[in-house]
Amino acid sequence: MGVEMEEGVKDSAPSTPKSRLTNQSKALLSMRLLQILLLFFVLTLGISVVSIHMIKFLKIQHFAPVVPTTLISMNDHSTLTLESFIRPPSNAWHTMNDSELLWRASMEPQRNGYPFKRVPKLAFMFLTKGPLPFAPLWEKFFKEHDGLYSIYVHALPNYKSDFSKSSVFYRRYIPSQAVTWGEMSMGEAERRLLANALLDISNEWFVLLSESCIPLRGFSFIYSYVSGSRYSFMGCADEEGPDGRGRYKPELEPEVTLSQWRKGSQWFEINRKLAVEIVQDTIYHPKFKEFCTPPCYVDEHYFPTMLSIKHRILLANRTLTWTDWSRGGAHPATFGKPDVTESFLKKLPGAKSCLYNDKQSEVCYLFARKFAPSALEPLLQLAPKILGF
Ligand SMILES: *[C@@H]1O[C@H](CO)[C@@H](O)[C@H](O)[C@H]1NC(C)=O
Ligand SMILES: *[C@@H]1O[C@H](CO)[C@@H](O)[C@H](O)[C@H]1NC(C)=O
Repeated sequence: MGVEMEEGVKDSAPSTPKSRLTNQSKALLSMRLLQILLLFFVLTLGISVVSIHMIKFLKIQHFAPVVPTTLISMNDHSTLTLESFIRPPSNAWHTMNDSELLWRASMEPQRNGYPFKRVPKLAFMFLTKGPLPFAPLWEKFFKEHDGLYSIYVHALPNYKSDFSKSSVFYRRYIPSQAVTWGEMSMGEAERRLLANALLDISNEWFVLLSESCIPLRGFSFIYSYVSGSRYSFMGCADEEGPDGRGRYKPELEPEVTLSQWRKGSQWFEINRKLAVEIVQDTIYHPKFKEFCTPPCYVDEHYFPTMLSIKHRILLANRTLTWTDWSRGGAHPATFGKPDVTESFLKKLPGAKSCLYNDKQSEVCYLFARKFAPSALEPLLQLAPKILGF
C-alpha cells in the first residue's frame, strides 16, 4: 500500500506546469514538500498500524497472564511454546472473575505422564482476613525449599499487603471476596484458593491453613508425609447427634441423602484430583449454598460430603491440623505467649492416635491452631529445637 502511494506521487511530478524558471522551481519545491509530507503520512500510518497490534498483544499479556495459549514467549510473538504453558505467573494476582477462574482451573491434562520434568509441589493456601502474624515463622519454614511449594493468600477484598520482594508472601495474594463465617462464602473462598493453586500445573497437594495456624514440623518432614500418603487428609465422619446428622437438611435430597451426610474439619489437605473435583462441582454447590445455612456449617460438610460420595476410598477421614475444642462452644481455644512451651509443642503432633497409610502412626498432626500473635516470639525461639527449622 505504501509503495503504491509513493509511486503515485512520483508519477504526478512531471506533469507540473513549466512557465518561468522561478515558477518552475517554486512548483518543484512545493512538489518536494508534498512528497515529503506524503511520505511522512505513509510512515505514521505504518507506525500506528504496528503499534495497534503491539497494544493488542500487550493487553492480552496484561489482562490474561494465566491463559497460556495467549501467553507467548517475548522473543517470538507467533510461536506457542510449552514453556509458556507450564511456567506459572510470578504474581498470584489476575483479572479473571470467579466463573472464568473456575472454568480455567477445571482443565486438566488427560494424557499420562509429562513431556517435561515435573517436580510436584505442595500448595499452601492461607484463608485470612489479611495480615499474617506468623509470617516470620513461615519464612523460616520455607527457607531453602524453593521449587517444592507455592503460596496463595485469600484476604478481605480491600486488604493491601506490604510484603517486600524478598518475602515468600510477596505477590501471593489472590483476588478475593468477603467471607462470612459458616456460610457458603467461606466454601467459595476455599474453592477460590484451590482454583488459583490449580493454575500451576506442578501443584500436586493442597493444604488449607488460616492466619492463626503454625507448622509443627520442618518443611521436608511435612513434604514427605503428605506426598507419601495414599490418602488425602479430609474428614468424612458420619456423626450422630445435633452437630452431625442433626445439621442435615432434607432439602438436600436427592443429591445428598442423610446416609451420605458427612462431617470433617475445615482444615484439609487434598490431592490434585480431588481439588479438580471441587472446582468443577456444579451439582452440590447450589444445593449447599441454598440449604446448608447455620447451624449447618458449610465449611465442615460441603467438601467432606461431596468428596466422600464419589471418592470415599481416597480420604483419610482425619485432618492434619490440631485444634483444641476441649473448652466447648462454637470456637476453639486460642494459645498465646504463656502457653507456648517446649512440652506443649512436643505433644501436639501425637496428641491423638491415628493411622498413616493404614498403619498406626506417632505423628498425626503437622499443623496446629489457633495461636495468638503473642505466640510468635516463643515459637521463633523454640522452632530450631522443637519444630526442626
Ligand atoms: C464473569 O465475567 C463474564 C464476562 O464478562 C460474565 O459473563 C460472568 O457473568 C462473570 N461472572 C461473575 C461471577 O461475575
Ligand atoms: C471417620 O472417623 C470418625 C472419627 O473421627 C469415626 O467415628 C468414623 O467411623 C470414621 N468413618 C469412616 C467411614 O471411616
